[in-house]
Order: sequence, then structure tokens, then C-alpha cells
Amino acid sequence: MKNSKLTRRKFLKGMGAFATFTAFPMTLVELAFADSGKNFTFAYISDAHIQHIKGTKFVRNWDRGLIRAVAETNLLRPKPDFVVFGGDLAQLGTKAELDHGAEMLAKLNYRFYCVMGEHDYYLDLGKYWSELFGPQHYSWDHKGVHFIVLNSILTYNKWTHDRWPTAKQRMLEMAGLDNPNGSPFMVGEAQRQWLKKDLTKTKKDSPIVLFSHSPIQKIYKAWNFWTEDAEEVQLLLRPFADVTVVYGHVHQIQYNQINNISFNAVMATAWPWPYPQSYAQAKSHLPKLTVPMNRADPFFERDATGWQFINLKSGRIIMSYNLNDNTNRTVAYNPQTHMPEDRTYQAVKNRIPPQTHY
Ligand SMILES: [Fe+2]
Ligand SMILES: [Fe+2]
Repeated sequence: MKNSKLTRRKFLKGMGAFATFTAFPMTLVELAFADSGKNFTFAYISDAHIQHIKGTKFVRNWDRGLIRAVAETNLLRPKPDFVVFGGDLAQLGTKAELDHGAEMLAKLNYRFYCVMGEHDYYLDLGKYWSELFGPQHYSWDHKGVHFIVLNSILTYNKWTHDRWPTAKQRMLEMAGLDNPNGSPFMVGEAQRQWLKKDLTKTKKDSPIVLFSHSPIQKIYKAWNFWTEDAEEVQLLLRPFADVTVVYGHVHQIQYNQINNISFNAVMATAWPWPYPQSYAQAKSHLPKLTVPMNRADPFFERDATGWQFINLKSGRIIMSYNLNDNTNRTVAYNPQTHMPEDRTYQAVKNRIPPQTHY
């Protein structure tokens, strides 16, 4: 990490004060360029799933996940330039949940950007969320990097508007992980047109970092680890040298490379999802290079939560996952193979085969 002000060692030292706490799903992203004056970091928190019980009662564990992540983000040194919240702030999109989540996010000492999750959206189609957080897709430039946020959890109009007798039922149908009544996520024509226009202002060699809630790739349709128009979005990003998509929603480690685009998932503050192939023994579209995490039990509450340190050197990511009850992992872009690779588990002999659900 020549040119970079913050090495992993320094970062871990900085984390020392709270490294003994339960590790939390926080991503610190460092962007390192030839011009070291441009180096900067940002943090990433995702999938809090704040859940209202009744009155002033909320599910305590999910609250605690977010409260802790916010507190730890506020302690980061060097200070991140901003924070991104990656979607699914609420569990069922209610005003009570969004207000409660927004109150916790307001404790961040930094500017923060929000991404729409399906759990935030399908009760009132994003109306109250937008009152709190603003537009659902937007972009900005920061120290030579073009950042884009998309609402990737839209779906067919017919499903959204014609199918359900109540908004609440629509929300509940979309909230289930493996509900066959759900509908595939998509970015949609209007946002793709907006993106196309937005990208005309960006130089082909400027790094682009795109935040979405669902992966802008097709992984496993039955659980909606999926974006229906992923290929169309990828095509719009194809002319650019260095593109990274960071997404939440899957609550697990995933990485991939499709042409010029690196894909990296972040963890949730709420709970881990199992890998489709370990739980359902389902054949997913996870690419060959994606290695399932060596999890003891997908449903052990804090098993797969953790925070990540990300270095995006020369436009590509080195992501170090610091996992609470699991072996830490580093997934780094390998310039020789042009793919992200797990530094420990990539070799076939080191891989841990998918578990059988029990
Ligand atoms: Fe989620
Ligand atoms: Fe989600």
C-alpha cells in the first residue's frame, strides 16, 4: 500500500480500543491513488432490519447491532470522509421503524448516504423513507471517484400495484427470503436512463463505486439474491476502467468479477443469511471463484457478522473481513488473474465444502 496513509496494521491499531468488542459489520473503505493527496476513507454499515414490536418496543438485538456500528464508526481514526448505509434499515417499512432507525443513524458524526432496501420500500413504496433521506438514486464526486447510489429493489408494476389487497400484505410478501410470491428485483428503465446520462459526465479512467442494495448480478433467484436487469446495468458501466459494486441484502461474504466490474458484498448488523447451497442445497449462480465462508452454523446469531476493511488500490478492492466468530478473511483483486480472490481459501485444496443444513 505505497501511497496510502492508512495501512491495515495502522487501522487495526486504531481499532484496538474497541477490537475486543463484538465485531460489527462496518466497512471502512480506503481509496488509494497515485496522487497520495487524494487518499481518503469511508465506512459502510448495512442491513439493520430495525423491527417494531409494539409501543416503544423494538427487537433489541437488531437495535444493538446498529447502535454499536454507529458508535464504532464514530471512533474510527482516521475519520472516514462519509458513511454509507446500505439498505434494509427497517424490517417492515413502518414509520416507527424508519424513525427509530433514522434516530440511530443521526448519531453518526459524519455525513451519511442511504441506499433503499426492499424492507424499507414495499409498505408505502419508499414515500416515508424519501421524506427522511431524500432521493432514491443519486450520484456525487468525491476526490476523483464517482459514487452512484441506485434503488435496485424495484419490481414489475403489476406485482407492485395490482396484486395485493393491502400495502401491508405486499410488504410481508416481499420481506420473506424464500417466498415464491415475491418478485425479482430490478433497477428499471427509468433509472437505467438516468444512469446512462449520469455516466456521460465521468471520464473513462475515473474509478466508479456503485452502491446498490441487491447485487447487480444474478446469484440465486429463489431468494432474490438477484437483479433482473443486472446485465443492462453492467453494460452501461462497461466502458469504464475500474468499477466496483458494493451491495448489502445477502448478509454474507460474496465476491465476483464480471468483465470490468468487481462485486463485493458487505455483512449485516442484524443477522447472517446462510449460503443458498449450504441451506437449500441449491445450485446458485455464485461464480466459481466465490468461496463459501467456513461457517459453523448459518443460524448462530453472530456467526457471520463482522466488519470489513477495504482498500481500493488503483481502482480495485482489497477487502478484509474481520469476523466475530469465524476466521478472518481477505478478498483481494489479483491483477494477474483479473479477479478477486480469497487470500487463504482460494486454492481448491483449502476450500471448505458447502455444509449440509441440519
Ligand atoms: Fe437485509
Ligand atoms: Fe434486503
